[in-house]
Amino acid sequence: MKEIEKWKEKIESDNLSEDEEKIFNQMGLNGESRRKFLKGVSIATISIWASTYFTSDLFANAIKDLPDKTLVLLNEIKVNLRVNDMVKPLTLDSRTTLLDALRERLVLTGTKKGCDHGQCGACTVMIDGKRKLSCLTLAATCEDKEITTIEGLAKDGKMHPMQQAFLKHDGFQCGYCTPGQICSSVALLEEAKNGEASYVTENFKSIKRNLKLSEEEIRERMSGNICRCGAYNNIVQAFKQVHSGDDEMPTWEFATSEQMEKAKNA
Ligand code: FES
Ligand code: FES
Repeated sequence: MKEIEKWKEKIESDNLSEDEEKIFNQMGLNGESRRKFLKGVSIATISIWASTYFTSDLFANAIKDLPDKTLVLLNEIKVNLRVNDMVKPLTLDSRTTLLDALRERLVLTGTKKGCDHGQCGACTVMIDGKRKLSCLTLAATCEDKEITTIEGLAKDGKMHPMQQAFLKHDGFQCGYCTPGQICSSVALLEEAKNGEASYVTENFKSIKRNLKLSEEEIRERMSGNICRCGAYNNIVQAFKQVHSGDDEMPTWEFATSEQMEKAKNA
């Protein structure tokens, strides 16, 4: 909003560069009409109205010579991030979250930003094999740790078995939560192998390695990953298939033509 206010002031004082003049002329705002128009509209209105122009090629060209604001760092630190078997040296603001470093600096946009508050699980990645919320993890704490994102699960062009199972069991709808669900599921396989207990584990004192997780256990352990499309049943089926190694059949089936006909006439 501050940016828009600055633009408004600039326009009112007619203190525009040649490129800026072009942008506003293209928006149909020139000279006196520009000042009159601006008096009659709120900052919010102009920001909505001008948004398409601010993302246009013309605007992009006009701002290309401005210094890159993302490079003006406070509390600058250098971090070597080891992501998906590659080491990426980065210079970051010390407060940068791992999620922002992955998405904004390494362009690994498979990891999604949902709530940015540790509540939805969309940003789940694996750090040293453990699932972690990247929105609550500072990139600076990840030096020398092995980070795996959804982009790093496929090997030699072949999807990870969990990715294949999600496809087979239709474990998604819009797909926004899916990278987080899959990373969480892959790490959960290891937790089960290591015999780690959960809130619903019975007799956790006698817990052993290679746990066979019940459906209740899977749901409890995956409860940090929210799916707004409600694909939970299919996600559980997908996990069960990889966890048990059995060829689980999808719990849904296509309607027969008779059923379709019946539904049409109902
Ligand atoms: S974006 Fe990290 S938990 Fe929602
Ligand atoms: S598939 Fe849409 S949020 Fe999970």
